Amino acid sequence: MAPPMSAILFRRFLARPLQVAYVLPSSKALIKRVLEHIDFSGTKTLVEFGGGEGCYTREIVKRLGPDSRLLVFELDPQLAEHLRKQFRDDPRVLIYQSDAAHFRDELQKLGVANADYVISGIPFSYIETRTKREILHAVHEGLSAEGLFLVYQVTMELKGHARMFAACEVEYFLANIPPMFVLAFHKTGLTLRKPRGRKVKKQRREPAAA
Ligand SMILES: C[S@@+](CC[C@H](N)C(=O)[O-])C[C@H]1O[C@@H](n2cnc3c(N)ncnc32)[C@H](O)[C@@H]1O
Repeated sequence: MAPPMSAILFRRFLARPLQVAYVLPSSKALIKRVLEHIDFSGTKTLVEFGGGEGCYTREIVKRLGPDSRLLVFELDPQLAEHLRKQFRDDPRVLIYQSDAAHFRDELQKLGVANADYVISGIPFSYIETRTKREILHAVHEGLSAEGLFLVYQVTMELKGHARMFAACEVEYFLANIPPMFVLAFHKTGLTLRKPRGRKVKKQRREPAAA
């Protein structure tokens, strides 16, 4: 169940423990679970915060449509370079060695008003409250009306700071070392899923007028 150790993630964790936060990349099962929230059909703009050694990025690009794009923000220069090398032949993937807080500036430079999804693995628990809230406001502003902010974290403390979102679905996911909360923040109520197990009543069709 444990994912293979990544030498570069381990080295960068030793160099910057509070920024990198984990020694193991996310498990395949966790990545699959997070990405299940995403509708990859059509042209989409996705943003990833904290690409790390690329475990999510690799899975996202497998599902990404030909006209979609993925902007990846990774603060650590060595990890950003490692990501650039992996995706240099894929024009859909843009790697920024930059703070995730600046993602809207980069969207603007591309002439894109909003992202459809923002996926984050950055350790919010270690970020001071003011900065954390600034990032949350920027994500809320930078998402389309049907946008989702997907976060995987060891705690769910972020939920308490994210009151600007219409709703948050929370799942505690055990198949990862360490277990993680998967938080899906909905910008508006448009994307809320029907409660599981409840039958949806079908609309009765009126016969077409002659
Ligand atoms: C826990 S690792 C996640 C790596 C990978 N996504 C995974 O799931 O294995 C967090 C990553 O976020 C990066 N990071 C932390 N704060 C960041 C920020 N403000 N902007 C961009 N990247 C950041 C770290 O350098 C690190 O690579």
